[in-house]
Amino acid sequence: MAEFALPKNSRVTEGKSWPKPAGAKTTTEFRVYRWNPDDGANPRIDTYHVDRDDCGPMVLDALIYIKNKVDPTLTFRRSCREGICGSCAMNIGGANGLACTKGIDECASKGRVSIYPLPHMPVVKDLVPDLTRFYAQHASIEPWLQTSTPQPEKEWRQAPEDRDRLDGLYECILCACCSTSCPSYWWNGDRYLGPAALLQAYRWLIDSRDESTGERLDALEDPFRLYRCHTIMNCANACPKGLNPAKAIAEIKKMMVTRQL
Ligand code: SF4
Ligand code: SF4
Ligand code: FES
Repeated sequence: MAEFALPKNSRVTEGKSWPKPAGAKTTTEFRVYRWNPDDGANPRIDTYHVDRDDCGPMVLDALIYIKNKVDPTLTFRRSCREGICGSCAMNIGGANGLACTKGIDECASKGRVSIYPLPHMPVVKDLVPDLTRFYAQHASIEPWLQTSTPQPEKEWRQAPEDRDRLDGLYECILCACCSTSCPSYWWNGDRYLGPAALLQAYRWLIDSRDESTGERLDALEDPFRLYRCHTIMNCANACPKGLNPAKAIAEIKKMMVTRQL
């Protein structure tokens, strides 16, 4: 239990330890962050035991097992169970990831898995972070096609090689794993846009059909919005879709320099 002991000055307390399921042959222990805004109590860590013979292989399967069979008050987001919607992002075994694509055995340490909400975000309840600011930052980069030339009769066309430049960018599912793993975003998240929003900013900056490149760069030219990235690379390590926001941010910085030459 020592490696899971809470720090002495932590406001997080030890919560309830639920009994092991009767008759289970193989179990995994889950230590799960709990906080209810309505009860006035400090956050706590509850301990659950999941019967592995009665549960799917993923962390999300275990959370659904706990909610359905042990403790219906446990609150978390999920939707697609396919790594597409981004809603089950949380901190699992010390790393941000998607509960639906993370195998229990992949992140269990000595038969235990610890689960917290995404770091450094306000918590709505239990494992649900408040992503209001994150979504507002995404909206602020105006993630839609902007044009000034007359509308074509049928569609805005794009050469295959120009479309290829969007690979590695358009696949973002806005899960927030990257931004909430970024130390610069932790400390300056009110002014620094963070890796997720900047990856999408770059996606629109290099779209061959978009005609607002100059205005988009102007909007990012700010000591905080873009330049708080210090290339720590946590974002690329955290992305469950294998994207590289740090590289996109470096490319935006290059665009800033070359347009001034
Ligand atoms: S590379 Fe930049 S955006 Fe990515 S984690 Fe580091 S500071 Fe944050
Ligand atoms: S870049 Fe990756 S980690 Fe960041 S929001 Fe998009 S999918 Fe999630
Ligand atoms: S439930 Fe949709 S990404 Fe996990």
